[in-house]
Amino acid sequence: MAFGKPSAPARRFQAFDLLATLIAVVKSDGSVLFANAALEDALGTSRRTLEGSQFGACFSEPNVLRTAIEGARAHDFATLRYEAFLRRVNHELLPVLVTLAQSDKAGELVVEMSVLEQQVRQDREERLLDQAKANKELIRNLAHEIKNPLGGIRGAAQLLQMEVESRDLVEYTQVIIHEADRLQTLVDRLLAPHRKPHVVGDVNIHEVIERVRSVILAEFPRDLEIERDFDPSIPEFRGDREQLIQATLNIAHNAAQALAERRAAGDAQITFKTRVARQVIFNKQWYRLALELHVIDNGPGVPDAIKDRIFLPLVSGRDGGTGLGLTLAQTFVQQHHGVIECDSVPGRTDFKILIPLP
Ligand SMILES: Nc1ncnc2c1ncn2[C@@H]1O[C@H](COP(=O)(O)OP(=O)(O)O)[C@@H](O)[C@H]1O
Ligand SMILES: [Mg+2]
Repeated sequence: MAFGKPSAPARRFQAFDLLATLIAVVKSDGSVLFANAALEDALGTSRRTLEGSQFGACFSEPNVLRTAIEGARAHDFATLRYEAFLRRVNHELLPVLVTLAQSDKAGELVVEMSVLEQQVRQDREERLLDQAKANKELIRNLAHEIKNPLGGIRGAAQLLQMEVESRDLVEYTQVIIHEADRLQTLVDRLLAPHRKPHVVGDVNIHEVIERVRSVILAEFPRDLEIERDFDPSIPEFRGDREQLIQATLNIAHNAAQALAERRAAGDAQITFKTRVARQVIFNKQWYRLALELHVIDNGPGVPDAIKDRIFLPLVSGRDGGTGLGLTLAQTFVQQHHGVIECDSVPGRTDFKILIPLP
């Protein structure tokens, strides 16, 4: 090819050179077909160097792009957005918001990157911190409110246990005592932010689910079918068992409450499903392996009016709700570097807990 003559892709994508956003067109194997002028500037490389090379190598985390492209190819999404760092020639890292979209031509993807201003990032991080601080305050106040009556509840259950004769009923009082103890531990931890918040040990997720299941069945002994669909290959991981029980319980509890009508109709169902997810992106990070725990119910679904706010504190769709269950659950899962996502339509609500596995 004669020097200076634009390549065929360069001619085809010429218009991209007029844009200020950084744009690369990549093939489905991740190799660069075209890089616009803004991207050349930002990276400090020429497009001739870039063309044909793996575009993933231009990022601080090369695997993320590959995962994203695979997802796009499998039609998991039409467009995907995530934050990443471009690596410039001088080794500086440039924070960008990446938008990946299918091109009109099969097998080609348009990678659009807008530079995230440091200030914007800082503002957002500060806002999140403020919010986290407010949440903490709120949770601490509430923990006090819970702590006071707990001792009374436990004592009363113990007295009751001595009085009852039937074995079935003793099982119930034991559930009360056990749960009061668990809450006590939890509340103590919430109230002592300077103590180690995390009690880390080996967690078996299926044990966690079994605990949650027995608590839910004790509260809803009839008219609720609980299915288990476990992937037995899930390894144990380091984490705080109590926190994960509480997080899962809060989600399952919501599901059971949402199923009131179904329970009356006799076909209420909750499914606990576990899977291993490979090559996933969440919390703006790429993970090779993650645990997926789904809590699925066949209830009416999350009300539209609060759908995008359910994880915020004090957002509740029911009378007498505190709106703290999901906030707390999300906090606990985030302490495990994970996230809870919700996918809900009438008839099927799926809360998915994702936690990175080693
Ligand atoms: N499985 C579910 N099905 C339908 N709605 C749900 C479900 N899970 C949560 N929600 C909605 O989200 C709201 C917030 O839940 P949560 O944070 O636990 O607070 P609370 O249970 O105290 O209302 C609930 O009030 C309910 O409206
Ligand atoms: Mg709740």
